[in-house]
Amino acid sequence: MFATVACSSSEEPGAGAKKVEVFTWWADGGEKAGLDGLVGAFKTDCADYEFVNGAVAGGAGSNAKQVLASRLQQNDPPDTFQAHAGAELSDYINDDQLEDLSAQYTEWGLSNAFPKGLIENLTVDGKIYSVPANIHRANVLWSNKTVLAKAGITKDATTLDGFFADLDKLKAAGVATPLALGKDWTQQMLFEALLISKLGPEKFNGLWNGGTDWKGADITAAINDYKKLLTYTNKDRDTFDWTDAEKMLMDGKAAYQLMGDWEAADLDAKGFKDYGWSVFPGNGNVFQWLADSFVLPKGAKNADGTKCWLKTVGSATGQAAFNQKKGSIPARTDVGTDGFPAYQQAAMGDWKTATQVPSCPHGSACAQGWQGAVGSAQGKFSADGDVAALQTALAAAAAEFGPKK
Ligand code: GAL
Repeated sequence: MFATVACSSSEEPGAGAKKVEVFTWWADGGEKAGLDGLVGAFKTDCADYEFVNGAVAGGAGSNAKQVLASRLQQNDPPDTFQAHAGAELSDYINDDQLEDLSAQYTEWGLSNAFPKGLIENLTVDGKIYSVPANIHRANVLWSNKTVLAKAGITKDATTLDGFFADLDKLKAAGVATPLALGKDWTQQMLFEALLISKLGPEKFNGLWNGGTDWKGADITAAINDYKKLLTYTNKDRDTFDWTDAEKMLMDGKAAYQLMGDWEAADLDAKGFKDYGWSVFPGNGNVFQWLADSFVLPKGAKNADGTKCWLKTVGSATGQAAFNQKKGSIPARTDVGTDGFPAYQQAAMGDWKTATQVPSCPHGSACAQGWQGAVGSAQGKFSADGDVAALQTALAAAAAEFGPKK
């Protein structure tokens, strides 16, 4: 009887080996548009394989990371997943969940394709564990041009004091919540942008490498400024994802939002044209960077298909197709500006000359335990405004998860 069992083509033995499940949190808007761009390149380069979308919605992986953690624990990894370069990637490396891709770097000529500093963020003990897809900038202030014009704001503020003055002008002009804000990780981003202004890049870096004391008076002063900043934001922030805050900006209910440059792609995908951008006031020429990368998990069902995906991710054509739609810039140094929207063309220029600092909620500065501890401390602060309690919690998180002295 065995020979008579009928199979549809997708059930044929071996058909599963063609599928490549790509796990991300790029489910909608500009993020999905970026992923679609990459999938288009994959279809051309890897016609033997079939892309399977394993996206789990929720900004910054707020849901996806938990789903992924439980799948990895149950030895059911997707064929590849999105992981941030830096400390966050090290989590998976330390847990022995990733294959070494050094041989592929040599085979595909990737070793000199990316900036040296970025490769260092993907390397542990001489082995390289992922292929970077992009560089995003976190410290960007997006604005609704019409709302600013109505309040008589014609120039971007370049200092925190100037920014507070503009926020006051907006309030006086009847904009009740001039600065749109979302939940936990989006609050971490706003606070980090403010810390960069208050501390400067070197001291900001020290927060993550152990050189700066979280208990210092300058941090107390920054938290007090942050508390003031929250008074210009929407009270329902703790229920908002970044796209809900973005909607306030699009609807003209808010004038500003601090968000990574995936917002450029998302505003474009949603057809909203009336937006401006500037670096967060007081950040000067600091580029707060993060990078999405893709990995080959140990135990992936289709390692060959994943390698084809990774090769596309690392290729110049794959990086152009992806980044033109994603709001980010190519991690490769040899992709030209042709075909990129104005925002990314400007970011490509800034990246070359700016001072770089990492981001905690997006993994370049801290691993997931630290991200979670900071996120819950800030969530609590959003509700109670207790400056001393936030500073104590941030110092405790650094002591627990930061570099040991
Ligand atoms: C970041 C990720 C970006 C973007 C953003 C918002 O963590 O690196 O690519 O997706 O979250 O979801």
